[in-house]
Amino acid sequence: MSLTVTTSSVTYPIIVDDGALETLPARLAEFGLRGRLWLVSDAGVAAQFGEPLAERLRAAGREVQSFVVPSGEASKSPEQLGQLYDWLIGGGVERRDALLALGGGVVGDLAGYAAATVLRGVALVQLPTTLLAMVDSAIGGKTGINHALGKNLIGAFHQPRLVLADTATLTTLPPRELRAGMAEVIKHGVIRDAGLFEELEALAATRGWTDTGRDGFAAWAASDAARAGRLTAIIRRAVAVKVAVVNVDEREEGERITLNYGHTLGHAIEKLAEGWSLLHGEAVAIGMHAAARIAAAMGLCGEDLVERQRALLAAYGLAVAVPDGLDPEAVLATAMRDKKVRAGRIRWVLPTALGHVVVRDDVPEAVVRSALQAV
Ligand SMILES: NC(=O)c1ccc[n+]([C@@H]2O[C@H](COP(=O)([O-])OP(=O)(O)OC[C@H]3O[C@@H](n4cnc5c(N)ncnc54)[C@H](O)[C@@H]3O)[C@@H](O)[C@H]2O)c1
Repeated sequence: MSLTVTTSSVTYPIIVDDGALETLPARLAEFGLRGRLWLVSDAGVAAQFGEPLAERLRAAGREVQSFVVPSGEASKSPEQLGQLYDWLIGGGVERRDALLALGGGVVGDLAGYAAATVLRGVALVQLPTTLLAMVDSAIGGKTGINHALGKNLIGAFHQPRLVLADTATLTTLPPRELRAGMAEVIKHGVIRDAGLFEELEALAATRGWTDTGRDGFAAWAASDAARAGRLTAIIRRAVAVKVAVVNVDEREEGERITLNYGHTLGHAIEKLAEGWSLLHGEAVAIGMHAAARIAAAMGLCGEDLVERQRALLAAYGLAVAVPDGLDPEAVLATAMRDKKVRAGRIRWVLPTALGHVVVRDDVPEAVVRSALQAV
């Protein structure tokens, strides 16, 4: 199980540990990051983790400046990016400096894009504090902001020099965010690691979470024992899946599309469900269920896989039903407009067995429609 990203141009580790942030000063030195440090976080993590981290770095003799953006997706904007540039350039950022992105995917994407572009690129260190960021967004170098016409339309590939995920930060993460992150963990099991999926099943079974996993999982995840043991191990295993995919496809030209499992309909549902305010992971869980149903209808997998996946999502507190009032036709139409559509055909990532997926662009609309109606 490798936790090292190795592409044609870079190699960097993903360190996942309870208390990992305490080792940051030593790690920066180890990776040759000796310039000034520019710490970006959001309002949800700044007080709790940002200030203590800046103090720890200063105590180790490092020069640190901090910048706090408002929490939430709206911060991935040209305006917020402009303020980051003002802070960096106004403060005299130099090529040898490093930008530290402490937070969830919003901070990672925004600060990552600033690091990719200011002075044509400075070093980036990702310090993810949400489950989604730990297993997904902090790894692989995709950075960017939103445009008025759509999400993530402006961006760059900029690989971090180091990713340090401190699982102790998850104790303060709202349970709903934690559950949403689990959708991506389960996704990694389905697309590439049947053993991870089975480990999650075994954990849910021993803890007695079934359809009541909503509170059970989140409460357990906040415990010291979880962080020090099984949860941290599970996160490492989910990270390994992302690493393996990035290692064979840094630029999203092939294999990396498999990470999009559940996202074609998930994105469409997320976009349309604004009134219900679904979190990304919650929408992806619905998208995964619909995709598995499509796969079963195409004869690619059995109904047993659909049911096992539904049960596991439920055990970790994730619902798979399309919210009431959301029109399947509108979901389909929105998915068709998604940027991952090539030549008018959606490229579907569909499971054939646990740990295996295929990419198909020949799914009849009628099959998608009936899968959506069924969920
Ligand atoms: N770059 C990629 O490859 C990639 C992949 C997937 C998603 N994304 C992006 O990631 C973003 C979503 O990321 P997210 O789900 O992490 O959301 P987020 O960054 O908005 O964080 C969710 C909320 O949790 C709070 N928070 C973060 N860590 C906390 C902690 N430890 N304790 C308490 N509160 C905490 C934040 O303040 C925020 O309010 C989206 O913009 C999406 O486009 C990027």
